[in-house]
Amino acid sequence: PMPAPFSMPLSLPPDLMPVHRTSTTDFYEVEISETEHEILPGTRTRLLTYNGSFPGPTIRATRGRETVIRHTNRMGKPATVHLHGANVPASSDGHPLDPIAPGTSRVYRYPNHQAAATLWYHDHTHHAESEQVYRGLAGAYLLSDPVGRRLPLPSGRYDIPLLIRDAKFGGDGRLVYRYDDYLNRPTILVNGRPQPYLDVERRVYRLRLVNCSNLEPFRFTLTEGASFLQIASDGGFLPVPAMRREIDLWPSERAEVVVDFRSVRPGSQVVLENSIAADDLKRPIMQFRVGGGGPSGIVARASSAEGFLRGLGIRDWPIEAPPRRTPSKHRRFVLSADPNTHEFHINGRGFDPERVDATIEHGATEIWEIVNGDGALGIPHAMHLHLVQFQILDRNGHPEPSYDAYPKDTVRTNPGDVVRIQATFDGYTGRYPFHCHFMDHSSHSMMGQFEVVR
Ligand code: C2O
Ligand code: CU
Repeated sequence: PMPAPFSMPLSLPPDLMPVHRTSTTDFYEVEISETEHEILPGTRTRLLTYNGSFPGPTIRATRGRETVIRHTNRMGKPATVHLHGANVPASSDGHPLDPIAPGTSRVYRYPNHQAAATLWYHDHTHHAESEQVYRGLAGAYLLSDPVGRRLPLPSGRYDIPLLIRDAKFGGDGRLVYRYDDYLNRPTILVNGRPQPYLDVERRVYRLRLVNCSNLEPFRFTLTEGASFLQIASDGGFLPVPAMRREIDLWPSERAEVVVDFRSVRPGSQVVLENSIAADDLKRPIMQFRVGGGGPSGIVARASSAEGFLRGLGIRDWPIEAPPRRTPSKHRRFVLSADPNTHEFHINGRGFDPERVDATIEHGATEIWEIVNGDGALGIPHAMHLHLVQFQILDRNGHPEPSYDAYPKDTVRTNPGDVVRIQATFDGYTGRYPFHCHFMDHSSHSMMGQFEVVR
């Protein structure tokens, strides 16, 4: 019983409230458990949830203040919690082999030393993260900082996280998980609801787009000629904001955009669509119902990012280009599927928790060449490194557009692509995973480990 498109209002996951605060730290408690929710009207869906919320509660953090979360695992199976995009000690990284056993608790400490960003947290249990995230274990983690707070960007109820993902429902309302089922997940959920609508005022909104899909790449477009001012990427604000007609986000990638609903007619409906299909079929994701009121007449659309920013009252964008550094090491990682075993490999090998694939000197800057070796099979991959934000230097010899280059923690690779990224490993020491973020690939072995050593 799929509801009609745009018949359900968008919901926002609740903010997680601290159980305790000190001058330096916010303390939280989260329970991971199996729960039931009404996603499709009239049916119950069994889910895995953080504090019973689908998606998980939104965690708001401030740069310079520590976040400490005690997760208690009330499921009958192991869990681990990873804060995607965060620079955290290895002991709090939620490594796949560092699980919270059923019935026990685990404390994760997040120092929040990095710049403001839209991060997200999700399950990372060895071989099981794909299904456990699909069943609900994901939520937004919004890190703010003084630089961002000083910018006159839409805030409060005009600043909206949108966690967007693929799903397939059985007739009984069950969430159907089948490995590598990417052709067969027709439903897109936004904050846990299929094709919701949101009533918006005729003003500017900040939207935080997060692709939480298991396997679904999105190319976001807007109807009514509306466009996006992209202001942030995976790891925070862009050095140069950009006007975009379409934004590609593959699993785990994020983009923050500002949309101006004054530039469409009062009463119009702007649809966020996925336009990635080769057949030009656009799939509606959600609808913005633009209210009356606001300025009389249609405000002329800004033709440039500078013009858009000036309209917001921003003359000097305060974000600097990534620092120039000299790399001390080059490495090459080839991503490929094994057509016989249906496992996914990096440099011909599956994940081995005992093996370290790259030993990195603390403080070193390295260039990694990521090769999608599945040109013949036509399989896309999205490489993600824990711990760092990196810069994409070039793709098939051509420089990456700046809005897609930095700060990034996940890089899309189309079949056959050769992409070079540069990262500086000056945060913590220890062992961290790197893997494809198509979750069925990472949970079927497309994962390695690097170790930062002093
Ligand atoms: Cu978002 Cu290792 O993951
Ligand atoms: Cu992959």
